[in-house]
Amino acid sequence: MSQRFYLTTPIYYVNDVPHIGHAYTTLACDALARYKRARGFEVFFLTGTDEHGQKVEKAAQAKGETPLELADRVMKRFQALWEKLNISHSDFIRTSQERHKKGVRHLFENIQAKGDIYLGAYEDWYCTPCESFWTETQLMDGNCPDCGRPTQKLAEPSYFFRMSKYQQALLDHIEAHPDFIQPRSRRNEIVSFVKEGLRDLSISRTTFSWGIPVPNDPEHVIYVWFDALTNYITALGYPDELGNYGKFWPVDVHVIGKDILRFHTVYWPTFLLAAGLPLPKKVFAHGWWTVEGQKMSKSLQNVVEPNMLVDKYGVDAIRYFLLREVPFGLDGDFSQNALVHRINADLANDLGNLVSRSTAMVNKYFGGTLPAPAAADATDTAFLARFPQAIATVDEQMNDLAFNKALQTVWELVGAANKYIDDTAPWTLAKDEALRPRLATVMYNLCEAVRLIALLVKPFMPETGAKILAILGCDRESQLDGHDSWGELRPGTAIEKAAPLFPRIEANS
Ligand code: ME8
Repeated sequence: MSQRFYLTTPIYYVNDVPHIGHAYTTLACDALARYKRARGFEVFFLTGTDEHGQKVEKAAQAKGETPLELADRVMKRFQALWEKLNISHSDFIRTSQERHKKGVRHLFENIQAKGDIYLGAYEDWYCTPCESFWTETQLMDGNCPDCGRPTQKLAEPSYFFRMSKYQQALLDHIEAHPDFIQPRSRRNEIVSFVKEGLRDLSISRTTFSWGIPVPNDPEHVIYVWFDALTNYITALGYPDELGNYGKFWPVDVHVIGKDILRFHTVYWPTFLLAAGLPLPKKVFAHGWWTVEGQKMSKSLQNVVEPNMLVDKYGVDAIRYFLLREVPFGLDGDFSQNALVHRINADLANDLGNLVSRSTAMVNKYFGGTLPAPAAADATDTAFLARFPQAIATVDEQMNDLAFNKALQTVWELVGAANKYIDDTAPWTLAKDEALRPRLATVMYNLCEAVRLIALLVKPFMPETGAKILAILGCDRESQLDGHDSWGELRPGTAIEKAAPLFPRIEANS
């Protein structure tokens, strides 16, 4: 039985259209999902849309449509973008779906039956855009400490979740599972927050109706974060143990932006503790992108539209750039200059040239038929030895979600292969008929190196990886699992002469 791997993106709000930030999280998950599949895991990769709540209700009102009409329209834009970005998700959950609503009701009733949900009255400062209540001391100059917008005093009957009861259990869990919250700096932030004391959490609202009604009290709708977080199990068919839920829960990693860490590492785990369900194995919070040095915002009109980028630069270049440019976990800045620089330096020069030089030489010197290697010399041995090492390192880095480091490791191989060409100087070998076996060895080693590099590149750039494999006469679907040892390419294979994989981009185009 193969090992399993379950990973999720946040479910995105439908009151905003997809931008580069959403694309980033989803792409990171896609690279990881593809990598794990390539390693033989049975992967469940979930994404979707968060459709309930006051924000969506208001946005729909403003547009003169029903919340569901708005959700239907925006959800399609997310789906279309995922298709364009070559996202390989297993499922797309919408919180307006019956399968989800059923599971949320079940979780609510389950926690209620255990005595951890009670009816009370809530009065505090409410930030509508963030759907969050704040205490007087948390406010910043009377405004929401998260978004800086005005808050209003709100009093309403509300169901409460006894979150306070789980403070110590949560701290114990974090202590016992050092990998639970990643990166480590984020873990410290959450530990301090929890140590300050957890209050009971208001988990229902009566001020709007676009949501899931509280079981047996339909005046209330369930708080949007209780509803949204539960998607991670409802998509698996919770509470049905027999299907995917029994198979894939607990999740291997929830990938999120740093903005929603507290919801995922305090609220969600305490709901699960109360329900007696296993906790996520890992929550990884990545950083935020600014654009040309500024916060991305509608008012600044600098929101980076991923469709436009893909049309201009190609899907694999965008996938590569976003995951290579910034260490996963830190903030980063998006600029067209940096993007063009990366495409030209890493893709057109380093990788593109390696593939075109190697395949061109096999065509020139051996008529496009891969020769058999002869005896290896010291240069060959040192070059070959890098591959198993790098492949093991990439595995560790992918397991740590260190995407930029994994790509760096792969590009060290690309650099080594380009240097191998320069060191062995095949054009000189080709001048001497007596050195033909040596030339054959060099050609074989180069093509085999390119094959392994293609397999490593593929989770990040699926089209490019498959294209390179096809040029080498390999199955485009070939994966790392079972094919990552040196020497699989068969002498006699026809090697195509590759057209440039990534044309250089002129600076002002
Ligand atoms: O928060 N840089 O949905 P959302 C990097 N529905 N990532 C960014 C980003 C930026 N500038 N802007 C957004 C929600 N993101 C809830 C989630 S989950 C149960 C419910 C990414 O549509 C980042 O992953 O506001 C962030 O966490 C997510 O988009 C927020 O998406």
